[in-house]
Order: sequence, then C-alpha cells, then structure tokens
Amino acid sequence: MDDFKGRAAVVTGGGSGIGRAMALAFAREGAKIVLADLDRAAMDRVGTEIRDGGGGSVEVETDVASLVAVENLRRRAVERFGAVHIVCNNAGVGESRDILKRRAERLDRAAERYGTA
Ligand SMILES: NC(=O)c1ccc[n+]([C@@H]2O[C@H](COP(=O)([O-])OP(=O)(O)OC[C@H]3O[C@@H](n4cnc5c(N)ncnc54)[C@H](O)[C@@H]3O)[C@@H](O)[C@H]2O)c1
Repeated sequence: MDDFKGRAAVVTGGGSGIGRAMALAFAREGAKIVLADLDRAAMDRVGTEIRDGGGGSVEVETDVASLVAVENLRRRAVERFGAVHIVCNNAGVGESRDILKRRAERLDRAAERYGTA
C-alpha cells in the first residue's frame, strides 16, 4: 500500500495497547510516526521498535488533557515532519479489562484527571 508512504501520523496513547499497534502498523506502511503519551518510558520503547524496523519516529511526552501540551505536540510534529496527515486520537483511560490488575498509579491518574463517581 502506497497511501501512507511519507505521511506523518500522530498517535496519542502510542506507548501501549491499541495505540502502539496502530503506530507499528502505520510505520510498516511507510508513515513517519509522532508518538504522544504520558508514559515516557513506554513511548520510548515503541519509538525504538519503530526505528529498529527501519521506520521514523519522534516521541513527544504529552498529556492530551492539556491544551498547551497538545499545541507543543503539533509544533514538534510539524517541525520534524513538515505536516501532520493522520491523527489517531486514541489516548484514554479505559478500565473495562483487567481492572484488578491495573497498577494503582494508573487508577489514581484516572481519578485525578476525570474525577470519581
Ligand atoms: N482495549 C479495549 O478493550 C478498549 C475498549 C474501548 C475503548 N478503548 C479505548 O481505546 C483507547 C486505547 O485503549 P488501550 O486498551 O490500548 O489502552 P492502554 O491503557 O493499553 O493504552 C492507553 C495509552 O494512553 C496513554 N494515556 C492515557 N491517558 C493519557 C493522556 N491524558 N495523555 C496522553 N496519553 C495518555 C497511556 O499512558 C497508555 O500508554 C483508550 O482510549 C480506551 O479507552 C479500549
């Protein structure tokens, strides 16, 4: 498929799960990846995976709940790749699976950000 070659794809929540899978899939199709995640270490691992596979990636630590952080993400993406062609607005906190196994800090982060019922 040629459609993604040379395109720049921003993937929020790209450090794990669905976002990671989308980032790796876009990279395999030739897109340049801009990873945006709260979790620096996880995001860096995905960026390394992409580069090791011959792809291009830049990692921008981003809290998508912060307008300032998202503006910084846009600026960094454009600086690096000239434009943004694809945005996967995937970051989020879902607790539908394995809730008992989730680390306490992630639950605390969700409560802090989105409130408690
Ligand atoms: N997995 C499912 O079954 C399922 C079902 C319905 C919806 N979803 C949604 O799909 C998305 C991805 O799900 P997943 O299972 O891959 O989740 P995941 O927890 O594996 O990955 C989510 C990633 O988003 C990051 N993140 C969380 N809040 C963020 C923020 N404010 N700013 C930047 N990064 C942030 C996390 O650090 C993590 O790397 C989520 O929005 C989730 O709510 C998932």
